[in-house]
Amino acid sequence: MDIYSNPKLYDSIHHDHKWDMKLIEAYAKQAHGPVLELASGTGRLTQTIINLGLDYTGLELSRPFLNQAKIKYNGDAKFILGDMRDFHLGTKFDFIFIGFNSFLHNLTDLDAKNCLECVREHLSDNGRFLLSIFIPDPIFLNRDSDKLYPATDFFQFQNSKCRIMEKNQYDPRSQINDLTWSVERDGKIDQEEYHYSMRMFYPHEMDMLLSETGLIIREKIGDYDGSPMDGESGMQIYVCE
Ligand SMILES: C[S@@+](CC[C@H](N)C(=O)[O-])C[C@H]1O[C@@H](n2cnc3c(N)ncnc32)[C@H](O)[C@@H]1O
Repeated sequence: MDIYSNPKLYDSIHHDHKWDMKLIEAYAKQAHGPVLELASGTGRLTQTIINLGLDYTGLELSRPFLNQAKIKYNGDAKFILGDMRDFHLGTKFDFIFIGFNSFLHNLTDLDAKNCLECVREHLSDNGRFLLSIFIPDPIFLNRDSDKLYPATDFFQFQNSKCRIMEKNQYDPRSQINDLTWSVERDGKIDQEEYHYSMRMFYPHEMDMLLSETGLIIREKIGDYDGSPMDGESGMQIYVCE
């Protein structure tokens, strides 16, 4: 099954994941006009923007996730079904962001370029764009592909104590990591498996992709606490104009 087919499971896993909210809020605050989130999911970050009094639009590919977001926000935010690699909304935004590694769903250079071109098309003259992904970790990528590893803390789902167990297979040629998630429910692994893939982008590749699209990098941040990116950083967060 596609990992983005079960919004209730996603929300149970991520309901108290707030690590990126302060950073997103700090940059959104500087915008005076509308905000666009790409790959907005079930709207985990939407309330942060609404609380600032800014108009929020979320663009999301999964219909079940989009519907869940629409139900949650009941008209207080706009959600559009769309593909971050090909969208043309006919309007500009003062702040565009793509958080929580969602950019890694662009599996090829062409996907990534198309996505960034669309961002550029929608960014107002003084607008800012924030992109947040992790830096590829060779230890994680090269784990034993037959073994299940814990991927989350324990969480409550359908009256059971659950956690996500995952395995992955990395192809260094395509730089694509294929992941399989299984729900461990009260100590037993469910039969059902969820699949997804992420393309690994290294910082020098992001430099090239962003500059080829004409986006100017103003800041490189290495953690959600706002510290600058360096050789020890786990994250690569770009603030562009
Ligand atoms: C890790 S989730 C992040 C969701 C949300 N932004 C959050 O922070 O909780 C990644 C999201 O990317 C969406 N997605 C994947 N490929 C996409 C695409 N090509 N265009 C738009 N959304 C996409 C998935 O459906 C999923 O909701």
